[in-house]
Amino acid sequence: MNMKKFGPAGWLFPKPVMIIGTYDQDGKPNAMNADCGGSWDHTEISLFLGKRRQTTLNLQKHGEFTLALANKDTMVGADYVGIASSLREPDKIARTGWTVEKAPDVNAPLFTEFPLTLECRVKEVLDDATSRDCYHLIADIVGILVDDKYLGEDGYPDIRKMNLICHETVHQTYIQLGETAGKAFREGAKLR
Ligand SMILES: Cc1cc2nc3c(=O)[nH]c(=O)nc-3n(C[C@H](O)[C@H](O)[C@H](O)COP(=O)(O)O)c2cc1C
Repeated sequence: MNMKKFGPAGWLFPKPVMIIGTYDQDGKPNAMNADCGGSWDHTEISLFLGKRRQTTLNLQKHGEFTLALANKDTMVGADYVGIASSLREPDKIARTGWTVEKAPDVNAPLFTEFPLTLECRVKEVLDDATSRDCYHLIADIVGILVDDKYLGEDGYPDIRKMNLICHETVHQTYIQLGETAGKAFREGAKLR
């Protein structure tokens, strides 16, 4: 076996770059970058957030948020909201230059520059222990918003048009998603 062995690390790839949008108690919009999370069920997602986040405080109050998938065009702002906290930089959202609207079905901000946004409502908090720096939750996806320009001829999102990025945690880079490799549920049929 010619394989190098590594210890435990956050290397389950690809990791989506998820921008979590919330309102604070005064209705002020915030956003943070998150990569710890993903699909939990077909219409549920999980997130693993630290306690020392304005976003976590907002979620503990409202339980509603948007989850926007970042792409090449939104990368700079997406990274910025992952290194700056509203707890210390109150003009964080203004600095991104993003357009903010209220999401139609949840009490959370919609950043219209993003290609695809999930509207989410917290369903269950799995871990909120004060002794640990963690807020681990499951949320229902209650709606999905896709910019018209990323729809295909069939009226459904064309993911290839979006230039989505993933977080690569070995060398800390963002990688843009590439080509279609095959058809799900079809490729395997060749072996039947
Ligand atoms: C690529 C990237 C991924 C991140 N993933 C997470 C994550 O999954 N969970 C988390 O709590 N923080 C994560 N962060 C850190 C938060 O985005 C960061 O602490 C942010 O400043 C919190 O903002 P807020 O305090 O305004 O909510 C990530 C940051 C980056 C740049």
